[in-house]
Amino acid sequence: MRPEAEPAQMNAATVQLWLAYPGDLIEDGVAQACEAALGEEERARAARFRFERGRREYLATQALARAALSHNHPLPPEAWSFRTNAYGKPAAEPDCGLRFNLSNCAGLVVCLTARGAEVGVDVEAGARGQEIIGLAPRVFSRREREQLEVLPGAERADRALSLWTLKEAYIKARGMGLNLPLGKFSFLFEGAEGIRLEIDPELEDEAERWRFFLLDHAGHRIAGVVESAEHSPSRAASAASDADRMERPALEIWEARPPLGRALRLPSAGERWFPRG
Ligand SMILES: CC(C)(COP(=O)(O)OP(=O)(O)OC[C@H]1O[C@@H](n2cnc3c(N)ncnc32)[C@H](O)[C@@H]1OP(=O)(O)O)[C@@H](O)C(=O)NCCC(=O)NCCS
Repeated sequence: MRPEAEPAQMNAATVQLWLAYPGDLIEDGVAQACEAALGEEERARAARFRFERGRREYLATQALARAALSHNHPLPPEAWSFRTNAYGKPAAEPDCGLRFNLSNCAGLVVCLTARGAEVGVDVEAGARGQEIIGLAPRVFSRREREQLEVLPGAERADRALSLWTLKEAYIKARGMGLNLPLGKFSFLFEGAEGIRLEIDPELEDEAERWRFFLLDHAGHRIAGVVESAEHSPSRAASAASDADRMERPALEIWEARPPLGRALRLPSAGERWFPRG
């Protein structure tokens, strides 16, 4: 199916997943265009990368965030600036209600964007599952490991990849990164809900606050975690209708090639939302 071009800005019931490819920056002038849109601090950071590949990944990610924000608010990509919270989570300035989160790896960079709701996102190469199994004792909770260990080989690697991306997306949605103890919350695969989030009271959060999705694209797994409308007052208030307040947001997928070039909306990529409810 051919992707379609669509100019509309997102409403409160929608989240957008933006995709870009660091490889596109190899073409003449593309990396320079990305760099030209950045602020002074980001440009200085780009200059510190020792390897061109890392620099391209960083430029693609920063440019994509600007493209995604400008798609939804009438400011040019170079007009945005960013502040970070105490743990490093970036937020856009001026604050026009848009929230976003970024993740990057060598082949694909992603930006998850919502209006008024906190979001977290992670992307990992699909081939990393086996390697992640080796890290399980350090990064997964006891209950996650119990569920992982009984799975046969290929299924176990696939589960490890899902767990890793979901956990990473959750700690990023919370904005605290690795300051949240990874063993104190679990993504449990069971029952009608498909995947259920369970959080130790010590973390002062409610599982009902979050909706999450998994999606495979171009050999990568992507997980997104989105605050539900009832728990994000600004989003609930700006929702135009009951449909806009619905439990599970609609996911739009946008591909920007190159990152500051024409954005195309892709057809649904088979994302799975949880809890199923
Ligand atoms: C820093 C961290 C938030 C993400 O790091 P990462 O996996 O290396 O990188 P990602 O590409 O997914 O995300 C990086 C982006 O997240 C954003 N970010 C940084 N701190 C953040 C925070 N506290 N909350 C949310 N987002 C944050 C930034 O935009 C950052 O981009 P930048 O590095 O270009 O500035 C943190 O989770 C981390 O260090 N993870 C290490 C991996 C790990 O052990 N994961 C366990 C999973 S079970």
